[in-house]
Amino acid sequence: MKKIVVMSGKGGVGKSTVAANLAFMLSQKGNKTGLLDCDIHGPSIPKLLGLEDVRGLDSKEGKLEPIKLNGVKVFSMGFMLPSRDTPVVWRGPIKHKFIQEAIEKVDWGELDFLVIDLPPGTGDEVISIVQLAKPDGSVVVTTPQSVALEDVRKAVNFSIHVGVPVIGVIENMSGMLCPHCRKPIEVFGSGGGRKLAEEMAVPFVGSIPVDASIFRSGEEGKPFVKQNSESTRIFGKIVDELLENLETIGEEMKKLKEKAEKEKKEKGEG
Ligand SMILES: Nc1ncnc2c1ncn2[C@@H]1O[C@H](COP(=O)(O)OP(=O)(O)O)[C@@H](O)[C@H]1O
Ligand SMILES: [Mg+2]
Repeated sequence: MKKIVVMSGKGGVGKSTVAANLAFMLSQKGNKTGLLDCDIHGPSIPKLLGLEDVRGLDSKEGKLEPIKLNGVKVFSMGFMLPSRDTPVVWRGPIKHKFIQEAIEKVDWGELDFLVIDLPPGTGDEVISIVQLAKPDGSVVVTTPQSVALEDVRKAVNFSIHVGVPVIGVIENMSGMLCPHCRKPIEVFGSGGGRKLAEEMAVPFVGSIPVDASIFRSGEEGKPFVKQNSESTRIFGKIVDELLENLETIGEEMKKLKEKAEKEKKEKGEG
C-alpha cells in the first residue's frame, strides 16, 4: 500500500478538496483506495462527502470499520468526535493518542493507496501523523497569493526534513474561466506555485482554476471528479503526474537503499 499525505502551509487552500478528489480519482482508475481525514480541529471530509451525520463507527474485534462510498473506504477523525459543533480542546499527548488510534485501528483491508488529509501547517499533530503513518510521498497544495506561498515553503521544507518526498505541488484557485466568455481571469494571480516548486527543486504538477462547480460539489457533498468538466480533466492529468512521480521517487529511494546496504556490506567484509 502506498500512502500519500496531502498538506498545506495554511487552511482554506483546498487541501481537503484535493485529498478527497485524489482518492476518488485513484479509485476511478481501478485502485483500491482509502481516504483518512486526520484534521482533528477542522475535519472537512465528512462535509465534502455528505457524511456529516456519521458518528461512532462499527468496530469488529477492536478494529474500526471505515465507511464505503463509491468504492472508496473513508475514515474521518470527525466520526470519532462527540458532535459536529464541539471544538476539540485536548492537550498534545491526548491528541497524539487519538491520532494513533485512528491510524492503527482502522480496518482498511487490502489497499493500493491511502490518501491522508493532514491538518494545515506543520505543527505537533502533523508530526505525529507523519511519524505514525510513514507516508511514501506528499502533495503540497497552495493558492497563488504570496502570503500562502510563504507558508507553503515551510510545508515543502517540513516534508523534506521528515524524509517524505514531495511528489507534487498543486496551485489551487489559480485563475478562473469567465462563465460568460470562457476567457481566464486571474483572480489571485497565478504561476507562483510553479515558481516556488522550481526554486525548491520539487515537482510542480498543475493548477486547478477557481470553479463554481468545484465549490458546489463540495457543498452538495459529492466529489467533483464524478462530473464531466474541464476541471475534472485537469485534475486527471495532475493525478497521472503524481503517480508517475511517486513511482520514480520510489525507484530512486530503492536504489539509494540498495547502494547504502551494499556499501555497508563491503565495509563489513573489508
Ligand atoms: N478550485 C476551487 N474552486 C472553487 N472552490 C474551491 C476550489 N477548491 C476548494 N474550493 C472550496 O474552498 C473551500 C475550502 O476548501 P477545503 O478543501 O476545505 O480547504 P482546506 O482543506 O485547505 O481548508 C471549500 O468550500 C471548497 O469547496
Ligand atoms: Mg481541510
